[in-house]
Amino acid sequence: MVYRARAVWLLLPLSPFVSVSLGRSVGPRDPVPEGYRAAPYYPTPHGGWLDSWREAYAKAEEFVSQMTLAEKTNITSGVGFWMGPCVGNTGSAERLGFPRLCLQDSALGVASADNITAFPAGITTGATWDKALMYARGVAMGKEYRGKGANVHLGPSVGPLGRKPLGGRNWEGFGSDPVLQAKAAALHIQGVQEQGIIATIKHFIGNEQEMYRMYNLFQPGYSANIDDRTLHEIYLWPFAEAVHAGVGAVMTAYNAVNGSACSQNSYLINGILKDELGFQGMVMSDWLSHISGVDSALAGLDMNMPGDTNIPLFGFSLWQYELTRSVLNGSVPLDRLNDMVTRVVATWYKMKQDKDHPRPNFSSNTRDREGPLYPAALISPVGQVNWFVNVQEDHYLVARQVAQDGITLLKNNGSLLPLSTSSKLSVFGTHAQVNPAGPNACMNRACNTGTLGMGWGSGVADYPYLDDPISAIKRRVPDVEFHNTDRFPSNIGKPSPDDVAVVFITSDSGENSFTVEGNHGDRDADKLAAWHGGDKLVQDAAQKYNNVVVVVHTVGPLILESWIDHPSVKAVLFAHLPGQEAGESLTNILFGDVSPSGHLPYSITKAATDYPDSIANLRGFTFGQVQDTYSEGLYIDYRSLNKRGIKPRFAFGHGLSYTNFTFSNPTIRPVTPLSLVPPARSSKGPTPAYATTIPAASEAYWPDNFPRIWRYLYSWLPRNEADDAYAIGIAGEKKYAYPDGYSTVQKPGPAAGGGEGGNPALWDVAWEVQLTVTNVGGKHAGKASVQAYVQFPERIPYDTPVVQLRDFEKTKELAPGDSETVTLRLTRKDVSVWDVEVQNWLVPGVGLDGKVGRYTVWIGEASDKLFLACYTDTGECETELEPPV
Ligand code: NOJ
Repeated sequence: MVYRARAVWLLLPLSPFVSVSLGRSVGPRDPVPEGYRAAPYYPTPHGGWLDSWREAYAKAEEFVSQMTLAEKTNITSGVGFWMGPCVGNTGSAERLGFPRLCLQDSALGVASADNITAFPAGITTGATWDKALMYARGVAMGKEYRGKGANVHLGPSVGPLGRKPLGGRNWEGFGSDPVLQAKAAALHIQGVQEQGIIATIKHFIGNEQEMYRMYNLFQPGYSANIDDRTLHEIYLWPFAEAVHAGVGAVMTAYNAVNGSACSQNSYLINGILKDELGFQGMVMSDWLSHISGVDSALAGLDMNMPGDTNIPLFGFSLWQYELTRSVLNGSVPLDRLNDMVTRVVATWYKMKQDKDHPRPNFSSNTRDREGPLYPAALISPVGQVNWFVNVQEDHYLVARQVAQDGITLLKNNGSLLPLSTSSKLSVFGTHAQVNPAGPNACMNRACNTGTLGMGWGSGVADYPYLDDPISAIKRRVPDVEFHNTDRFPSNIGKPSPDDVAVVFITSDSGENSFTVEGNHGDRDADKLAAWHGGDKLVQDAAQKYNNVVVVVHTVGPLILESWIDHPSVKAVLFAHLPGQEAGESLTNILFGDVSPSGHLPYSITKAATDYPDSIANLRGFTFGQVQDTYSEGLYIDYRSLNKRGIKPRFAFGHGLSYTNFTFSNPTIRPVTPLSLVPPARSSKGPTPAYATTIPAASEAYWPDNFPRIWRYLYSWLPRNEADDAYAIGIAGEKKYAYPDGYSTVQKPGPAAGGGEGGNPALWDVAWEVQLTVTNVGGKHAGKASVQAYVQFPERIPYDTPVVQLRDFEKTKELAPGDSETVTLRLTRKDVSVWDVEVQNWLVPGVGLDGKVGRYTVWIGEASDKLFLACYTDTGECETELEPPV
C-alpha cells in the first residue's frame, strides 16, 4: 500500500518544539509596542440575528435543541490529525443525521485528490483583473469539491495580503491590494458556495510572513502589530467583503495580532469579526494552532482543527472531551457552546448540505482503493477509501482561460510578440519542461524542478497532468531547439538576426512547513532574484540573440534590473503560476491567437530598498516574541511608492496588449447621497434561545462497549470524570480564572456594524462612472482592463494615499474598431476613512454644509496610467490629463 505522507509535512517543523498542552499553554502576552492593543472583547456575540441567515438558524436551533452535550462538543472539533479522508474531519451527530464534516485544502483545487483540476493560483487569477473569471473559477472549484464529497473548501486566501514581497504565501491570494483581494475573494466565495460548499476565508489576520509564525514550547508566534486604521482600511477590507458575500467559515492565522494569538484573540474574533462585521458562520483555528481550551472558546473560536493539541497524533485535545468537561464544570458557559454548535449547524443548513450532500469519496492519505479508515490509529479498520470519481468536467477550459488571461506582458519592444510559428525558436531553461520525475514528484510541490505551476505547502493540489510550455510550443512550431539547462550552453552557434530565444525563469515560495533550496517558505534565501541563476541565463541569451523573450513563472515580484533594459530583451511575459494549463495558455499568447490581457497584481520595483524596511524585509529571529510592527501603516506596494515619489520599474496594474485602447466619453453620476456618518444601523434581531443550565453528566458518558479507536479524539468522558466535573459545575464554587474584561452580557453591537461585513450603508453606491472603451489598434483583438482609483479631497484631516484602487472591469474581447461601455462604481465605504476616535467609517469629503467635496476618480489601464478623471463635486470628467503619480 502506498501511503502519501500527506500530513507529515505539518509535523516536521513542530516536533522538536511543541509543548504538551492540556490546559492553557501560553503565558501572559508579550509586550508589544506602545499604541497597538488587542483589547478584551466579551462575550462572543450570538449568531443568528441577521435576516439573511434567519432560515438556517431556525433549522439549526431546532436541531441543536435535540443534541446531547457530547454530540455538541463532537461537531465543534476535529477528531484528530490524519483520522479520516480529509485534511480536517469533525466528529458527527449521526443519531440526528449530522455527518462528519470534511474540510479540504486548497485555495486552488481539491488537494491530495485524483481526477480533479489544478487551477491557476490566486495570484494568477488576480492578474486577470476579470470578475467573470474570478467567479467562474470559483464555480468550477465548488463543483469539484461537491463532486468529491467535501463540505468545506479551505479557501480563498486573502491573508497574507502581500504586504512583504518576500512573504511565502502571497501567491495563494490575489494581489497586494485590499480591493483586488476583496473583489476576487467575494466572487470566488459566491461561485463556490452556490455549489453548496462552505468557503473559508483565511488566514485571519496579519500572517504576512511565514517564518516564526507558529507558537511552540520556546517561543510564541510573531505578533503582527497593526493599528486600528490600517487594520480596517487594508488588512480587514477583504475579510469584510468576504463576510458581506456570505462566506460560511473563517480560519484564524497562526501568528498573534497586537500580542494576542489569533486563535484566542477576543478583540479580533468576538469584537471585529463577529460584532463589527456581523459574521454569522463558524470560525476555525488553523491546523495545530489551538493553544488554550477555555480561553479560545470564550474568545469566539467555534471549531478547532484538526482537533489535536499542538502535539498531534497522541490522542490529546483541548476540546472534544475537554470541552465537554469544561461545560460540565461550568468553566465554559453552555451558552457559548450552544452558539458554537449552532454556528456550525446553521452554516451546514445555509449551504443546503442537509439535502443529498455526498460523503467523501476520496482519501487524502492514499491513492489505493482500500486503506485504513483512520491512518493515525496505526491499527485501524480497513475499507474502501477511494472511489476515483472524476469531477473535472470541462474545467480545464476555465483553468486555461484564467492562466491565459493572467499572463502579463510587461514589455514588447518593436512588437516582437506575437511570434510567428514559422520563426526559428531556441528555448532555454529547465522550467520550460515538466519535472522529469513527474509534476507531483515532490510532496506538496516542495521543490522547484521543471515548470512552476504553483508554490509549495498546503496551498497546492495534485496535477492531473501538467501541459508544459515546451510541449505546447513543439505542437505549434516545427523549428524549435530546446536547451534543457539553466546555464547558457557554450556550444551555441551564431544565431541569425531574426532567430528568437525564449528563456524560462522562475521564483518559488510556499509554506514554512518546508524549506526549499534554503528558502523557509518565505523567499529568504533567493530574495527577489530568479532561481537557478535565471537572471544570468537571460543576460547570456541576450548577449547572443537579438530577440529574447523572457517567460517568468513566479510567486510574486522580482528585481529585473540586471537585464530588463538590455536591447535584446525585447519581450517579457509574467505567466505567474498557471496550474495545469501552463502550456497552451502561453502559446495562445506567444503566437497571437489572443492578445495578452493580464495586469500586474503588485508593483515591480527597481530595488528591494524602494520599500521601507518594515515591508522590504522579513522579521528575523529574536528571543521572546518576534515583533512585526506595521509601522508603514497604509503605505504598502503602490501606496508606499507613490507617497515617497519612487517610480517602480512596472507599476501595480501595468500590463500591455498587442493592441491599443482608448477610453472616451466619461460620465459620472451620483447615486446615493452621502452623509458624514453612515445612517444608524438597525438593532440585532433575535437569536436562538436554549436552556443554559449545566446539562446532565449522563449526556457525556462513554457509551458501553464502544469499540474505541486508538488516538481518535472523542467527546465523551468516563462516567466518574463526567460526574466529578458536573459536581463542580453545579456547586458553582470553583471559578475559572476568566480573562480581563470577561462578561456574559450580550452587547448591542458597534455603530459600524449592522449587517454582514458591517453597516449595510457602506455598500450604498455613491457614484457611478461610465466610459467607452475602444480597440483602436487596427490589427489584433483584445480585452482591456479598466481600473478606477480614488483620490480623496484635499484639506481633509486624514492622511490618505494619493490614489487607491476601488473598482475594475475587463471588457470582452474587442475586435479592432469595436467599443464597449464600461461601468465602475464607488461605494460609501470606498470614499470613507476609518476614524479611530469615532470608531466608524466617515466620509471626510462631506463639508459642514453637507455638500460633498471633490473626490477625483481616476480611470486608466494601470496605477500609473491614469489619464482620465471624473470629479464628484462638479460631475465633470476630463481626458488626456497628467497622471497624479
Ligand atoms: C495550514 C495552512 O496555514 C492552512 O492554510 C491550511 O488550510 C491548513 N494548514 C490545513 O492544511
